[in-house]
Amino acid sequence: AKIRHYKWEVKYEYKSPDCHKKLAITINGGTPGPTIIAQQGDTVVVELQNGLLTENVAIHWHGIRQIGTPWMDGTEGVTQCPILPAETFVYKFVVDRPGTYMYHAHYGMQREAGLYGAIRVSLPDGQIEPFSYDYDRSIILNDWYHKSAYEQAVGLSSIPFVWVGEPQSILIQGRGKFNCNTSGIASGLCNATNPECSPYVLTVVPGKTYRLRIGSLTALSALSFEIEGHNMTVVEADGHYVEPFVVQNLFIYSGETYSVLIKADQSPSRNYWASAKVVSRNSSTPNGLAILNYYPNHPRRNPTASPPIGPIWNDIGPRLAQSLAIKARKGFIHTPPQTSDRVIIMLNTQNRINGNVRWSINNVSFHLPHTPYLIAYKHNLLHTFEQNPPPEGYDSANYDIFSVANNTNATTSNGAYRLKFNTTVDIILQNANTMNLNNSETHPWHLHGHDFWVLGYGTGKFNGSSDPKRYNLVDPIMKNTVAVHPYGWTALRFRADNPGVWAFHCHIESHFYMGMGVVFEEGVERLGKLPNSIMGCGDSKGHHSP
Ligand code: C2O
Ligand code: CU
Repeated sequence: AKIRHYKWEVKYEYKSPDCHKKLAITINGGTPGPTIIAQQGDTVVVELQNGLLTENVAIHWHGIRQIGTPWMDGTEGVTQCPILPAETFVYKFVVDRPGTYMYHAHYGMQREAGLYGAIRVSLPDGQIEPFSYDYDRSIILNDWYHKSAYEQAVGLSSIPFVWVGEPQSILIQGRGKFNCNTSGIASGLCNATNPECSPYVLTVVPGKTYRLRIGSLTALSALSFEIEGHNMTVVEADGHYVEPFVVQNLFIYSGETYSVLIKADQSPSRNYWASAKVVSRNSSTPNGLAILNYYPNHPRRNPTASPPIGPIWNDIGPRLAQSLAIKARKGFIHTPPQTSDRVIIMLNTQNRINGNVRWSINNVSFHLPHTPYLIAYKHNLLHTFEQNPPPEGYDSANYDIFSVANNTNATTSNGAYRLKFNTTVDIILQNANTMNLNNSETHPWHLHGHDFWVLGYGTGKFNGSSDPKRYNLVDPIMKNTVAVHPYGWTALRFRADNPGVWAFHCHIESHFYMGMGVVFEEGVERLGKLPNSIMGCGDSKGHHSP
């Protein structure tokens, strides 16, 4: 195994990823930042210098479980103190599994300012994947706002509440087009000459097969990704092999990664559109467009056909169908434990708490403490956060998930769930109506430090006696991010076997900021000394271990 050493400087710079100039957070001058390329078992070392002048920072390695290094998870307030301006923090961790992962800021709402990138972990030399392809490419999808992340965060915590609204554009590998004066949802074409915002071009050689590693780090949007005239075979999800299935369009939620295989088997006489469209919200954001360039056509020549329109935004059926189609690949199945030791039901609701609009889990809206949990647990600083644990469920018999939420008794808390080490935990994510009539949103939930088995999805209210009988305990996929569909539920199972403190939250940037998350502690007593580099904030001042 090798050491992969990176030296990154994080800065604010003027960028025009969609032809509109604004301040973005870059790594070594770019957004997305550099792709980390490693092999299974390698150690990644990132020497991160915070050049933001007046803002702290922290970077999370999304999908990397950090076994034995929970302090390297990069979750500000949970696993480390923020990195102060002009400070350098060294992240060091092992990438123990092949697959497609990502990294991004995990401090305030900085992710959507552009601080993100891809991690690609391949098999060790001499080992081969259970599918074949000629070339490997990474593509990150994102949505892009023209207001600063800071301004958005302030709006979300203001009274009256200022919602972030729909993004101005969709970026494919950091490129998009804003307001190109064509109208309609499929637009996004224009003749801007700024090379910074010319569409991303993926050049293919006719007849070859490409593995596209597609990740989404949208701030808000659920997306449908498709390539005109080309089917995609889904072979990987969040670092796990999928029993292959073919789609025309791939639904992808923030925090998810997929590998799809595409074959360049269409007429080589022209280029083709790749398009990313917002689904699940009635969005006015134009589709993001990129070019699939058939060599030797000119890479900048627009495809002769018009770009795909994409699916209807509010049709849940095909999205649920794709969720259900994702199973572990035969020969690579990790059979889940057949029973669990604890079941936590998490009702997702929107609430008003002291005049603020918030998201809550079982009527508790989350906020981060000033002393990171990992340090608080390990150094017995338990006064630094609420010791009252959050609820194990909600009053399901008396709660109508289809009516407008009126949770006047909702509270905010930073209490954590403590999981018994090495136990099996089930989480049932239960969706509900928001504070608007006939509206329920899609929430992509992401778990740090683990992969979970996705045991099942359902529509309506989860029934604790009949629904578990329908769980897939044979070949469920393992993931780290999963969608809870509107008015539906999703059931997960994981083993609490990774000592540390781990965030579990909705990956929509504004939702997490508005309290849509929880924290799990497990086995912290088994950890050795914490590194001094994570200390220094809240009550961890002066807690440097000798
Ligand atoms: Cu990719 Cu806690 O997030
Ligand atoms: Cu959400």
